Amino acid sequence: MAGNTMRAVQYDSYGGGATGLKHVEIPIPSPKKGQVLLKVEAAALNPVDLKIQNGVARPFLPSKFPFVPVTDVAGEVVEVGPGVNTLIPGDKVVSMVTYMKGGGLAEYAIAAEASTVTRPPEVSPAEGAGLPIAALTALQALRTSGIKLDGTSKSANILITAASGGVGTYTVQLAKFAGSHVTATCGARNIELVKSLGADEVLDYKTPEGASLNSPSGKKYDSVIHCTTGISWSIFEPNLNANAKVVDLSPSPWTIISSTLKKLFFPKKQLVPFLSYAIKEDMEFLVELVKEGKLKTLVDSKHPLSKAEDAWAKMMDGHATGKIIIEI
Ligand SMILES: NC(=O)c1ccc[n+]([C@@H]2O[C@H](COP(=O)([O-])OP(=O)(O)OC[C@H]3O[C@@H](n4cnc5c(N)ncnc54)[C@H](OP(=O)(O)O)[C@@H]3O)[C@@H](O)[C@H]2O)c1
Repeated sequence: MAGNTMRAVQYDSYGGGATGLKHVEIPIPSPKKGQVLLKVEAAALNPVDLKIQNGVARPFLPSKFPFVPVTDVAGEVVEVGPGVNTLIPGDKVVSMVTYMKGGGLAEYAIAAEASTVTRPPEVSPAEGAGLPIAALTALQALRTSGIKLDGTSKSANILITAASGGVGTYTVQLAKFAGSHVTATCGARNIELVKSLGADEVLDYKTPEGASLNSPSGKKYDSVIHCTTGISWSIFEPNLNANAKVVDLSPSPWTIISSTLKKLFFPKKQLVPFLSYAIKEDMEFLVELVKEGKLKTLVDSKHPLSKAEDAWAKMMDGHATGKIIIEI
């Protein structure tokens, strides 16, 4: 592929939002040791893609400008670099490319063999692309809260906030798979959808009952997977069982400080700052669940690469129901 070019979408400075994206023709990259070159079939957006564009991790991310964003992709291996021995050209895969290098919003992307898993024919490119960050986060956050997905967990009462989002829709399904009782929050328009994913009780976050987080059946929570922001500890605390964990997916520096303070005042109830990470075994587990029909990727909308800025604007809007997918 060396010498050939591909269509890609990139930005060349911090900020800029959807209008900062530019459609370009750039060289197809070549895989190095331990890497594969993928022909991308679908990519999925995540809030972190916007945060990186906004400079949340400057000066480390992006590693350089111009930058082709997006980490979560599904596609086909077309070339393998030296030392790759689990993938061959022609393999259909799901992959999480690195935050550092990005590259998902393009016809071809470089991915590490270590964060690429094969995708059976039952898992469509869109279903696969939705998985890496969002479903890994759902799985690992549940595990952090003490829920096991191997059938050995005893039933726990879980609260999932923003259950209609990319992470929330996977978290509800996985929590039910683990045998938990799920209370979820979302907007009124998504209540029936979230129930259809398995939630036992659903609160409209815009009502006083929803804002209080009180379970309609009076249950206290053993854990909370907190997929949104702006809810204080004083709202969570009265709703928690003695040893409950609130796993915060959007930790700020204040979360880290308050998590430490909570250990002093509420030694058993914990606020846990959380960051997900790519683990091949977890990705394989999730792909298998989709293959078996036990986990669904809820697709908010699909956009062609030529309209990537529409997808980006939708993500910025913050009201996606499930995953925003770009088809390439
Ligand atoms: N720590 C990590 O490793 C990690 C990984 C992935 C994501 N995250 C973070 O987790 C959060 C969720 O990610 P995501 O991909 O699920 O986002 P998302 O798909 O953009 O979430 C959008 C959904 O959230 C709902 N929502 C917004 N505010 C809400 C509230 N106060 N109560 C209930 N629902 C609310 C919206 O419903 P309406 O349209 O009805 O408002 C919408 O359906 C983001 O902050 C993201 O940065 C962290």
